[in-house]
Formats: sequence, structure tokens, C-alpha cells
Amino acid sequence: MSRSARLVATARPFLLALALTLVVTACSGPGGAHATPGGEGVGDPYFPEAGNGGYDVTHYALTLTYTPDTHALTGTAQITARATRDLSAFDLDFKGLEVKSLTVDGRKTSWTRKGQELKVHPPSALPKGKAFRTTVRYSGTPETITDPDGSEEGWLRTADGALALGEPTGSMAWFPGNDHPSDKATYDITITVPKGLQAVSNGELRTETTAGDGRTTYSWRMTHPMATYLATVAIGHYDITRTTTKNGLPVYVAVDPEEAAASRKVLARLPEIMEWEEYNFGPYPFSSTGAIVDRRGDAGYALETQARPFFPGAPDTATLVHELAHQWYGDSVTPKTWRDMWLNEGFATYAEWLWAEDHDGDTAQQTFDALYKGDYYDDKADNEAIWAFPPADPTSAAHISDSPVYERGAMVLQKIRRTVGDARFYDIIQGWAAAHRHGNATTADFTAYVEKMAPGKNFDGIWKNWLYGHGKPPRP
Ligand code: TRP
Ligand code: ZN
Repeated sequence: MSRSARLVATARPFLLALALTLVVTACSGPGGAHATPGGEGVGDPYFPEAGNGGYDVTHYALTLTYTPDTHALTGTAQITARATRDLSAFDLDFKGLEVKSLTVDGRKTSWTRKGQELKVHPPSALPKGKAFRTTVRYSGTPETITDPDGSEEGWLRTADGALALGEPTGSMAWFPGNDHPSDKATYDITITVPKGLQAVSNGELRTETTAGDGRTTYSWRMTHPMATYLATVAIGHYDITRTTTKNGLPVYVAVDPEEAAASRKVLARLPEIMEWEEYNFGPYPFSSTGAIVDRRGDAGYALETQARPFFPGAPDTATLVHELAHQWYGDSVTPKTWRDMWLNEGFATYAEWLWAEDHDGDTAQQTFDALYKGDYYDDKADNEAIWAFPPADPTSAAHISDSPVYERGAMVLQKIRRTVGDARFYDIIQGWAAAHRHGNATTADFTAYVEKMAPGKNFDGIWKNWLYGHGKPPRP
């Protein structure tokens, strides 16, 4: 509430206050004459409708019930947020499911829907700085979303349950929110499923209770900021393994029984990979780790879901290294927009190269050379695709998962390493993870950071030709 509004509301007798509220609401609300709608996107260059302006979510409390037989989801989302300006209305991203009721700070609130925008019209304006809680009750059959790059995300049905994956804009298929990586928040995710099924999510399992109605409720908590695209739920039959790493970090691994035999060996290396990554990238940013392995075909890709990466079928070691590396680069240090995607994929790919180098495989420089020469892939077109566009500008939403973002992004890191030497390079990648731990960062933040960490070195050619330049960079 703004200062003047509070004075009015508390100084006047009740009836007068009510009359004033009615009059003021008719114009712009007690948030003042400047209260305006928050905006239907945060201005992402590739996903202009993703996220919403005018508020900042601090916590999501999601309470979900899913019945695989009918594919019915009912949910309550309690979204705690802070207004970042005087708001007459604000949007949530929410696709498909039916909204049953909506309150803001306990007061019944009207809403309108258009495409993925759920517009909330609070009874009175929300002044800048105010913390407010929106509660949305909803139900329906959640949708699978096809991305601009053709991959499927959102809510995916599996043989024995379902799976929620959200990169880049799939979380809106199962909960309303500010679906953009720039607005990270903590989460409580509670899922009720028919007895006999498991429900796995991010972070730590707090309670598991089976009620008399034949349903089991799993309550998960992620206490560190998480981008919406990294939230997950996996429902089905899983073999659960709970261990700890040498440092005492809890490891929770859920494997579809059909993938158990094929996964056993690689998942046994998870603690070793975590230790190698902590040694190279610095302290692990979350309070537990693990993995979810579903069946091959349950999704078309692995995903770095926070503290519990997801794999469609038993992963190979490189993929496990990749998704765990994302916990530092992507999940903890999260891109500010989808254009900065190479900060995720270039780093996670480079982690694979470093792992190979440290484990009797090719050196990162050998991988770099093969890519530069064009004999890395069997297929000529794949080798040429690396030069299609610069890592720092994948040109459109359809290309954020292409090889210039992954492989050429990793090549940028190898160029930096060659320029500064190993000792300084590891300081840079660890320092980068520390500097933006649990936050967001842009490509410009990264180049500035590298320059700050290596005074006297010149990176102009790397930025110009490798990071931002079109076509294959010239050999130096
Ligand atoms: N981030 C995933 C990985 O680890 C790949 C991925 C899944 C992806 N879905 C995506 C990339 C959507 C871009 C857009 O590599
Ligand atoms: Zn990745």
C-alpha cells in the first residue's frame, strides 16, 4: 500500500473508506494514480510472452493430485510475490487447465484468460513493494506443449504415470506462475497419487504419507531459488535409492524398474562425478542431488531439473556429467533471457570435454580441433551446422538447442582457457559460479567478468569472432 493510500484507509471512518475505495477503484485503485497492469511478458527476445512484468515471485507452494488412469490433475498454487511497481492488474502464465477460483491475500478476485496469459484483477491495486499471495485452484487434463524447436515438454504421459518438464516454457502446463528464468523462487511441491505409485520432485523429500483413501502424498521442498523451467514432477513406479556422498550430501535416485539394470553402473558413478565437479566448479549449490530415470521415449531429451536431473532411459556417463554440470551452470547461475542459453549449454558441454580429458579421453583441445577441422561428426552437415550462427545470439526460439549454442559455446570456453592458462581458467569458471550463485546473469556479465579476472589479456577477438561473430571464425 502506498503511503497516502494507507493514511486515507486508516484515518477515515469505515463507510467513508469504503466509498472512497469504490471511487478510487473505479479510476485506478488505492495503489495511486500510477497503478498500471504489470505486462504480459518480461521482454525476452525469443519468448516475448514468457513471464510477466510488475512482480517478483519469492515462493511457490504447489499442492497437486494426479490420477494417471483419468489423466486428471487438480491443483492449488499459492504464489507469494512482491509488486515491483504499483499494479492495477498482473498476469500469470498458465496454459490449458481450468481455473476454479482465485484469491489475492484471501480476497476473491476476478480473472480473464487469453492464450497463455491468466490476467488477475485484484480488488484493489497492489502498491510497489507490497508482498501479496495469490491462490489459484485449478483442475483438468494437463497438456503436452510442442516447442518452437519441435521438442515436447509441459506434461508428458508415461506408461505408468506422468512427467512434468519445463524447458523453456512448459511449467505453465501444470502450474500458474511467472514462467521465465529471470524470476527464480523457492518451492514446496506436494503431490498426491494413487497408493503404490511414487512422486518425485526437486530438492528434499520431507514427508510421505498414505491416507485411508488409498492415496499417497509426497511432500518435496526446494529451499534455493529455482527457475520455473527447472521444476519437475515424475509420477510412476520407481526403484528408489537413497545414499550420501562423501561430503554428506543426500543423494536421491529414482529409476524406472525397466531401466534399472542398464542404469546401475553409470548411476553408481554419480557421487564420483559430483566430487569431480565440486573440485572443478566449486561448492555444489543445492542441498541434495540425485537423478530421475524414466523409460527411453518418455521424453526426447535429458533435462537438468534442479537437484534431480531427468533422463529418458539409462544415461551415458557424458550425459550424466552434462546434466550435473548444469546444476552450477544453468540452475544456480541462470541465464537472464533465453538468448543467453549458451551460458548453460556451452558450459555443460565443456564439462563433458573436461571430464573426457581428465579420464583418459580426448583433451578439450583435441575436441576443439576436431570441431574446427570439421571431422567431429560423421555427417558433413552436422559439422557445418556449428557455424550457422553465433553462440550469443541463436537468432530465434527455434534454435536455442542447436549445436552453435552447445559445441561452439564450449569452443568459446576453450579459447578463453588457451588465452589465460589453466590456473586462471579454473579460477574464472569457479568464480563465475560463485559470483552469480543462485542468481541470473547475461553474456555481457560473463565477458566483463572474464576481463576483470584476467587483466592485461585481450579477449576482443574471442568475443567478436567466436561469441558474437557470424560464420566460421578465422584461424588465429
Ligand atoms: N537443457 C537440456 C540439456 O541438458 C536440453 C533441452 C531440453 C533443451 N529441452 C530443451 C534445450 C529446450 C533448449 C530448449 O541439454
Ligand atoms: Zn544441457
